[in-house]
Amino acid sequence: MTRLEKLRKRLGQCDEILLDAILMRHHIIKDIMAYKEENGLNILDPEQEERQKEWLDGRLEDESNASEVWDIFHAIGKASKQMQARKLFDYNIVLIGFMGAGKTSISEYLKTLFAMDVIEMDQIIAEREGMSIPDIFEVHGEQYFRDLETNLLIEMQARKNVVISCGGGTPLRECNVVEMKKNGRVVLLTASPETIFDRVKDSHDRPVIENNKNVPFIADLMEKRRVKYEAAADIVINTDGKSLIEVCEELVQKLLAMDENDK
Ligand code: S3P
Repeated sequence: MTRLEKLRKRLGQCDEILLDAILMRHHIIKDIMAYKEENGLNILDPEQEERQKEWLDGRLEDESNASEVWDIFHAIGKASKQMQARKLFDYNIVLIGFMGAGKTSISEYLKTLFAMDVIEMDQIIAEREGMSIPDIFEVHGEQYFRDLETNLLIEMQARKNVVISCGGGTPLRECNVVEMKKNGRVVLLTASPETIFDRVKDSHDRPVIENNKNVPFIADLMEKRRVKYEAAADIVINTDGKSLIEVCEELVQKLLAMDENDK
C-alpha cells in the first residue's frame, strides 16, 4: 500500500467515526426529548446551547482552522434543532393575533430555537409588491392587500414544519382560517390593550391604527376582532409580562398537550 493509499484509508476511518458520532448524537437528542416529556420538564433550554458554545470556544482557542470547525458544529447544531422541531410538530405553526401581540418576535425566537423557516406574511407581501404595507393600502386599497394575504396563505399550504407569522387581520376572513388549519395549528397570541399600545406606539407601518394610536381605539378594535380570533385559535397564549422563552415554552407544551389529546 502506498503512503497515499494508507492516508486515504485513515481518512475513510475518520469519516466512519464522524458518521457514527453524528448518528449517536441524534439518538441521544431523541432520548433527551423523550426524557423531558416523560418527566414533565421544560423542553426548551437555550442555556445549554450557550454552554456548548463556551466549551467549543475553549477547545478551539489555539486551533488555526477554528472557523471551519465552528461551521461544522453550527451545521450539526442546526440539524439537531430541525430534527427536534420535526419530531415535536409535523405541521406548520400559524401565529395569529392583534398588531403588537408578539407574532414577529415569537416567530423569530422559534427560528432561533428550532431552526424552522419563518414566513413573515407582511414582509413577503411587501417584498413582492415592491412597496411597504402602508403604501399598498394607500395605492391599491385594503381589499387588494387582503386578497394578497389569502393567496399567500394558500401558497404556504405546500410548506411543512414552518412558522407562519400572519398579519393581524389575516384570521378575519373565514377562508383564510380554513387554509391555516389544513396543515397547521393556529396559535393566538394575546396581550392587554395597554401592552399593545406600548408595543406599537412608536411604529408607523400599521395603517389600520396609524391615526388612532391610543388605548381606547385599540381596545375597541380588539374587542371587535376577538370572536373571530378565538374561533380561529387552536391554542391561546397571553403574552403580558412574559419573556420570549416563557411564551415559547408555553406554546410547545400546549401544542404537545393538544397532540396528545388528538391521539
Ligand atoms: C393589520 C396588521 C398588520 C398588517 C396590516 C393590517 C391588521 O400586521 O398586516 O397593517 O389589520 O391588523 P401586524 O399584526 O404584523 O402588525
